[in-house]
Amino acid sequence: MRKKVRLGMIGAGNIGRIHLQACQECTGLEVAAVCDVEKRRAKQAADEFGVPHVFTEYRKLLAADVVDAVSVCTPNNTHLPITLAAIRAGKDVLCEKPIAMNAREARRMVAAAKKARRILMAAQSSRYTPAARFVKKIADQGRLGQVYYGKALWLRRSGIPRGWFQDAKQSAGGPLIDLGVHAVDLMWWLMGRPKPVSAFGVAFDHLGRTGQGMGDWGVGWNPGKFTVEDMIGGLIRFEDGRALSLDISWAAHTADQYWLRIFGTKGGAQFLPETMLYHSDGNTKLDVVPQLARDNHYAAENQHFVDCVRRRKEPISPGSQAVVVMEMLDAVAKAARTGRMAAIRTG
Ligand SMILES: NC(=O)c1ccc[n+]([C@@H]2O[C@H](COP(=O)([O-])OP(=O)(O)OC[C@H]3O[C@@H](n4cnc5c(N)ncnc54)[C@H](O)[C@@H]3O)[C@@H](O)[C@H]2O)c1
Repeated sequence: MRKKVRLGMIGAGNIGRIHLQACQECTGLEVAAVCDVEKRRAKQAADEFGVPHVFTEYRKLLAADVVDAVSVCTPNNTHLPITLAAIRAGKDVLCEKPIAMNAREARRMVAAAKKARRILMAAQSSRYTPAARFVKKIADQGRLGQVYYGKALWLRRSGIPRGWFQDAKQSAGGPLIDLGVHAVDLMWWLMGRPKPVSAFGVAFDHLGRTGQGMGDWGVGWNPGKFTVEDMIGGLIRFEDGRALSLDISWAAHTADQYWLRIFGTKGGAQFLPETMLYHSDGNTKLDVVPQLARDNHYAAENQHFVDCVRRRKEPISPGSQAVVVMEMLDAVAKAARTGRMAAIRTG
């Protein structure tokens, strides 16, 4: 096993800083470099978190031989080139969600990692929460029976992130790819990863394109540049008849609502707004509110990545599974665009 993994943080914006903070709780890891095209942001993060090397170009970081692995925390359209370059330079990669702009890009990343025998882990952080880890254990023990349906209702009233998130060329989409990626990934994983075959979708942009519903984070709104959806509905069907449904918004005239449930033949589980398990004993309803340990799931995610790098083992959220998640998201987006059911051909 390696001594300490030297990690390079590429992107020191919102999530990059969250990872830098989380890494302080990890063992077997030292953050050796931080890189951001905005020098001031990279320097500030390095000073704050005690990181010795600062770069503004990721290629220079990769060439400098100061890191063993990188965390890709940059806008979605940069995940592919940065990950490919990192793999070529012999680095293991933790890549933020969505792993890429679409399934085609994701497949290229996975193929490159496989060929170079590098670890490619998708930062599907929802899998690392105490609630997800607990419900996954319950589901794998068969205590929910067969989970046949999952539903996510994730409605922000006024939460459009600013800057690159609104530009389809940089983000690939709105709430579907930003929030839906978590919901789809989590529910599909809990269901035991059934094979998706088709999807329907409807998407709207009434508020975003007229400057309504902006959130209070990000780097400013550029009118005319809102080229993604602000609300989306989707239904994904699996080969065996099971399904997932989604209603997700960045902006909508409604109350904020976060609600995520899976339904099984023996029991059900809810994640949001709080974790609950639903079972029955005859006519008696058994509702359980697990008292979960509180931990920082970003620290759990980074610790898991480092453990996988040191022990050369496959992560809980490997790039190969993120490819299937992207295939489902691509299909919902395509169905919304064309008004027709979209077939999903995995593999
Ligand atoms: N897992 C989660 O919970 C979670 C939460 C937020 C964001 N994200 C994901 O993380 C990624 C980044 O999102 P964010 O909110 O931090 O965005 P952000 O805009 O706050 O930060 C991105 C940073 O990347 C820098 N950057 C851009 N191009 C670069 C390049 N070529 N090289 C180096 N630095 C570059 C920018 O200057 C900026 O500082 C996105 O893919 C997003 O979907 C994940």
